[in-house]
Order: sequence, then structure tokens, then C-alpha cells
Amino acid sequence: MNLEENLNKIWQEAEKEFDLAESLQQLEELRIKYLGRKSYLANFPSIFKKLDIEEKRKIGSFYNELKKKIEKLYLDKKEILSEEKIKFDLEHPGKQIKVSHQHLISQTLEEIKNIFIQLGFSIVDYNQIVDEKENFDYLNVPQNHPARDMWDTLWVKDFKGYLFRTHTSVFQVPTLKKFGVPVRAVIFGKVFRYEATDRTHDFEFYQLDGISVSENANLGNLKWVVEKFFEKFFTQKVKIRFRPSYFPFVEPGLEIDISCVLCNQKGCPLCKNTGFIEVAGAGMIHNFVLKSAGIDHRKYQGYAFGFGVDRLIMIKHNIDDIRILHSSDLRFIEQF
Ligand code: FA5
Repeated sequence: MNLEENLNKIWQEAEKEFDLAESLQQLEELRIKYLGRKSYLANFPSIFKKLDIEEKRKIGSFYNELKKKIEKLYLDKKEILSEEKIKFDLEHPGKQIKVSHQHLISQTLEEIKNIFIQLGFSIVDYNQIVDEKENFDYLNVPQNHPARDMWDTLWVKDFKGYLFRTHTSVFQVPTLKKFGVPVRAVIFGKVFRYEATDRTHDFEFYQLDGISVSENANLGNLKWVVEKFFEKFFTQKVKIRFRPSYFPFVEPGLEIDISCVLCNQKGCPLCKNTGFIEVAGAGMIHNFVLKSAGIDHRKYQGYAFGFGVDRLIMIKHNIDDIRILHSSDLRFIEQF
């Protein structure tokens, strides 16, 4: 048998045997047989040396090819058998999979929703694109009213009079119209303002608004609801402070402060050493708004409140820049 025939025979046998190997141990034995130090192929160079130039040229590349092919047979089979081994190796550590989770904002909205359900409120939803009547006129903010300056507005191009809602208070009149009275409802969702951004302002952010209208809903009820909400949200007792303020759709209008949940009124940068932090706007619903909804304001009265959800998240989780909440930075998202 000449050398070429020898090598061919080795290849045919190797191909068959590697194919039949059923375990890593069998495979190792084949590796030793075909590629090990004492194998025919390993010792072939000593035979090769003795060949004349013509034969060397002929057989050299044939030998190199064959060696590569057998090495490949070995590696391919090793991969197959290793995978099979892992399948049945119950001790083998599992691959760590990244499991997704709700974003902090969604988690918080869910939390807020559950608290208000416990407090007896219905959860309602409303459009993000509304007409200016809903966003302003029905809420006692007529055309040219200076209060419109408080909300820099993003208008919808080519749809005159339509805008991205600037506050969730937009739901008040439609909700009163739809459900009638008595009613207790909250809405939460995105609002949009044409605003330059900074650490505490974004151009889109989340708000929550609540209303309660009945024959006797009053500021005492408002205080209780707000206090209970913040106690549950911050999981600690809080003190409530009302300050007079102005919103065209409430009369009287209030700003609500809660005792600082970071320092317990000892004084810290969050409360600017005042012991209180501003958390919501509120008040008794203006007669104008009740009239806009077709509600008899001589018989019914109600309170309304609204706050920025992102700002509450920032307080609760000690986040110093609102913009990170709306970024898709995984280093932030993965922390919650
Ligand atoms: C309002 O939007 C009123 N609709 C709230 C209200 C409801 C008052 C019902 C009375 C009765 P204001 O513009 O202050 O009010 O916004 C409410 C809250 O939204 C603020 O307290 C703040 O927490 C948040 N907020 C306002 N502007 C931004 C902004 N650019 N980025 C993030 N949060 C903001």
C-alpha cells in the first residue's frame, strides 16, 4: 500500500469511528488514536523526511489537509457530545437570563392606583390629545386669560385648537358629564408642556388628578384623603399643611405641603430646612367647572387635587434629576 492509500484508509476509518463515538471518553480515545503523540499522523513527518522532493510535494499537502479534517471531526463531535452532556447534567449551573420588569414609573402608577382604589376612588382614563375647550375653557381659563401663560402648550400641527393635554385636570368636566354625581375618581397619565428642561422640569411628565363631588364633599374630606394617600405612599405618618394658592378651576385654591419625609422636619436640603415639601395643588371645584359639566352647583360641591407623579418618585427614591426617569438608561432602570 502506498502512502496516499494509507492516509485515505485512515481518513475513512476516522470518519466512521468519530461518527459512532457516543461519549466524551470514547472521543478522547479516538483523539489519542488518530491525533495523539503515538498516532500514525503524528509520526508521519519522520516518514515524510525520507521521501524525495517529487513525492514530498505530492503527499505533503494531502497529509496537511487530512490532519486538519480529522481535527475538525474531533472538535465538531466534541461540541455535540458536550452539549448533550449539559442537557442531562442537572448539577450544571444555569445560564443567567435577563428578566425584564416594569419601569419605576409604571410600578409607581400601579401603587398609586391601588391606594386610591382602597380609598374608594374609581380609576378613569382620558385622551392625551384634547381640544382647547377641555384643557382650558371648561376649566375657567378662557381665551386670553392670563392663566393660560401658566401652561406653555404643545399644539397639534394642522389640527387647529387641538393640543397635547397640559394637565390631567382636563378629565374633570368629561368625567362629571359621563358619570354624573356623586362621583369620586382619579386619573393619572402623561401630560406635555412646551418647557425647557432642567433637573426638576421635563417637557413630558406624569400627573395625577382626583375629584370628589357630592352634596357635602369638603376640604376636611380632602385633607383626610390626601393625608391617607401620602402616608400609604411614603409608608410613614405625615403632617398636612394647606396654603392659599391660585388655580382658575378651584375656589378656594390651595397648595398642599407634607412634612418632610426625608428628615422628619429636622431640616434638610429637600425641604430647604422648612420641614415641609410642596406636593400638590388642590381646592374646592369652581362653580364655573360644575356648570360646564351641567352639574347643579347649588346642590353639589366637590374638591379636586392634582400632583406631579415624577416629583413624588424623585422624593421617594432620592433621584435628583427628573430626566433620568424618562431616559432609557439601563443602568438606572435595572436598579428598581
Ligand atoms: C396643575 O397642573 C393643576 N392642574 C393641578 C391642580 C389640580 C390644581 C386640581 C388644583 C386642582 P401645576 O402646573 O402646578 O398644576 O402642576 C402640578 C404638578 O405637576 C406640580 O406640582 C409638579 O409636581 C408637576 N409639574 C409641573 N410642571 C412640571 C414639569 N415641567 N416637569 C415635571 N413635573 C412638573
